[in-house]
Amino acid sequence: MRPPPPAALRLDPAECRRLLDPTTYLEGVPFELFAKLRRERPVIWVEEPAIGDLSAGPGFWFVTGHRDVQTVLGDPGSYSSSLGGTQTRDPSTPEALRYVRRMMLNMDPPEHTRLRRLLTRSFTPRAVAQLEDRIRGHARALVARATGGRSAGRLDFVKDLAADLPLLTLAEILGVPTEDRLLLFDWSNRVIGFQDAEYATSAVFDGGSGTAMAREALRRRPRPDPSGRMPDPRTREGMPDLYHYAHLLAESKRRTPGDDVMSILLAERDDEGGSLSVEEFENMFWLFAVAGNETLRNGLPGAAIGLMEYPAEQRRLRGQPELLASAMDELLRWWTPVMTFRRTAAGDATLAGTSIRAGDKMVVSFSSANRDETVFERPDALRLDRQPNPHLAFGYGPHYCLGAHLARVQMRALFAEVFERMGTIEPDGPPALLRSNFQRGVKRLPIRWSRGR
Ligand code: HEM
Repeated sequence: MRPPPPAALRLDPAECRRLLDPTTYLEGVPFELFAKLRRERPVIWVEEPAIGDLSAGPGFWFVTGHRDVQTVLGDPGSYSSSLGGTQTRDPSTPEALRYVRRMMLNMDPPEHTRLRRLLTRSFTPRAVAQLEDRIRGHARALVARATGGRSAGRLDFVKDLAADLPLLTLAEILGVPTEDRLLLFDWSNRVIGFQDAEYATSAVFDGGSGTAMAREALRRRPRPDPSGRMPDPRTREGMPDLYHYAHLLAESKRRTPGDDVMSILLAERDDEGGSLSVEEFENMFWLFAVAGNETLRNGLPGAAIGLMEYPAEQRRLRGQPELLASAMDELLRWWTPVMTFRRTAAGDATLAGTSIRAGDKMVVSFSSANRDETVFERPDALRLDRQPNPHLAFGYGPHYCLGAHLARVQMRALFAEVFERMGTIEPDGPPALLRSNFQRGVKRLPIRWSRGR
């Protein structure tokens, strides 16, 4: 293991624990610590002691400034997604590392470029236009179902509104029959719920209402161990049901292509005339099923929290729907759903005057970069007309979120319906936050709504 850098470059051990402990985030994000780090040492060494069920790690450089986060993410030759994957924790075994590297998220150019190009081409303007129409229809139906034609009421913004929209959208993109969409919910919960027991074992789908493919996949679903824990979902053995389903789906799409993005992708040719392998498809399916679901399930209620904490801004948005587009970006800046990502230094480097060694882990903080006072005036305040707004909620550089456009469309569609049918939204009790040091998550958000105000 690498010897730790001099004390002056290391974060205080108590602060390291606070930063890493998933329990910290049940109370909120430590923004005041981030502000201090940006001022005093924007690239700082964080030790990784064992905490609860998190095992000890080798330590990492924590990057908090907006410009430095862009430098790391924009230079895959110096800071690799592939050498150690993109999660703060190292994969537990060399086999686990090999496994995550089969996913585009954990590749560097030129391997990454080939898959990214194939996928970008599959989101044809026609496919995207069709998706947007469907998303607006789903948002309308969801809000209509939740409000039931009443002019006031109470609901849980997560369960009743936010959870289903990303699933319905993903089912459209992946060409998953709508009746199987709760499989996506289960898989995503198992991956993200790694640190929060309430999510990790939730299984709400018994297959009865699904297709034969879903029933066959479910037969391979791992069972929780006697302590209730599921196998590590970031290994292939942890998700046999997902892989089997992806395999069956690819076979069926090859036989009878639909007009969904995944059917287009399977038929697509790369620059050398090759097509996507079944294994590449399966990994792509994993990435979409997880990346496109939980992020938005947290981003939507996070945005609702922002609008309720700033009622004057909420009123302004209701009166000026043309602000909706800039508002959604500001809400993602203010409530950044993905808090960190990781790279590995490919060679010795210098960042913000700090010497980095080849092999060092680099963890970039989107939550901190999005509150950088040198880029955003009054960064802690929500200002829905903020322009320009170079937030990094969707990342930066070659891995910039592929779903950013569809995420924005979903947010706009849901809030347009919320304002039209529900009027004002207000808190109806405290939110329940996710126990996670990776996702800024909301599990429950009780609200009151009324069209009269
Ligand atoms: C508010 C919602 C979302 C947020 C905050 C978000 C955030 C991110 C971030 C930060 C990255 C960059 C990872 C890195 O640099 O290593 C990323 C990548 C990615 N996202 Fe999203 N995402 C969201 C929604 C979605 C949706 C809806 C989809 C799919 C429909 C999606 C698919 C992907 C994919 C495939 C990648 C990998 C791109 C690559 O490796 O080139 N995301 N996302």
